[in-house]
Amino acid sequence: MSRIDLDEAIAKLESGEVVALPSETVYGLAGRSDRLDTVQKIFQTKQRPSFDPLILHVASFEQVAALTSKVTEAHRELAKAFWPGPLTMIFEKAPSVLSQITAGLETVAIRSPEHRLFLQAIQAVGVALAAPSANQFSRTSPTEAEHVLAEFQDQVSVVDGGPCKRGLESTIVQVEQTGQHVTMSLLRPGVITPSSLRQTLENSGFSVEFRESTKMAPGRVAAHYRPRQTLILYDPKKWNADQLAAMSLEELNGKSDDASELSLDFSNPADFVLNHDPVLAARELYSQLRSFSASSHSVILCAWPFGKHPDGQWEAIFDRLSRASSFQVF
Ligand code: TXA
Ligand code: MG
Repeated sequence: MSRIDLDEAIAKLESGEVVALPSETVYGLAGRSDRLDTVQKIFQTKQRPSFDPLILHVASFEQVAALTSKVTEAHRELAKAFWPGPLTMIFEKAPSVLSQITAGLETVAIRSPEHRLFLQAIQAVGVALAAPSANQFSRTSPTEAEHVLAEFQDQVSVVDGGPCKRGLESTIVQVEQTGQHVTMSLLRPGVITPSSLRQTLENSGFSVEFRESTKMAPGRVAAHYRPRQTLILYDPKKWNADQLAAMSLEELNGKSDDASELSLDFSNPADFVLNHDPVLAARELYSQLRSFSASSHSVILCAWPFGKHPDGQWEAIFDRLSRASSFQVF
């Protein structure tokens, strides 16, 4: 299978098949959310463990009502500000939503993607589409149609909508409203930042409190997006590439949070240079990781000057880079 046009994709989706669709974040492996066999096909194709719930994709906020048992004003305000766009919100699940989608949770994750082709597909099929990122479980998410085809050895058909303009998966936030007070937990950082969420709600007259998320979103694993070679993040104010190459594995481990028993080969290191503009750095991140994987470099060195608790847009980039890296030498 290969690239298909939107009409073909819609026909396949209607008949319960799984198809990769472009979104502004990453490509999604989409299927209709009202059929158990389709949902199972998504999990099988991705080799995804059943404890990792899927996000439902809707064409508009009106579609949320059928999928949830409770919609708050805060959800509505955030949707008004950020949908369609890279924001996933957690809702109480309606009984009709298949429990395989939510991995048995009583909550359901929903977003409206900002890509014309994805939105048209949802509208045409007439039900929410479940879609995880179109990669094998724990691998790097695809930001181009070519990545999807490579990832599944042509077993999945893809609608080519060009490179994803955001490049990182959506921000996931849990939103709870009591009167005019809203409590939020950030379950996955993305290009929509906590401060912009707070600002939006405060402008609508809410008081906002961010709770340290006690539990990670299920399925968020520590080792994710890893390229073929070992990736080392380092603070360029303290170290340079030659110093890293001279360090023993024990020394690197000692300076890192993540004890790893990989062997390192500094014979042909790659310099991973991030764009200075976080919007562009995010957009390019996953395709850069893929290019490194395909290269003959023996190790990847990435200078990270923003520390362990970076602000704004860099937070999501650091979240992904730290999962992709085996060592963080700060
Ligand atoms: O940008 C995106 O969100 C992309 C595009 C395709 O829309 N999708 C995506 O899906 O990143 P996926 O399956 O790779 O990641 C979805 C994650 C799950 O791993 C889980 O952490 C979280 O969403 N999630 C889903 N349902 C949840 C729930 N009810 N409660 C908490 N977290 C949930
Ligand atoms: Mg994913």
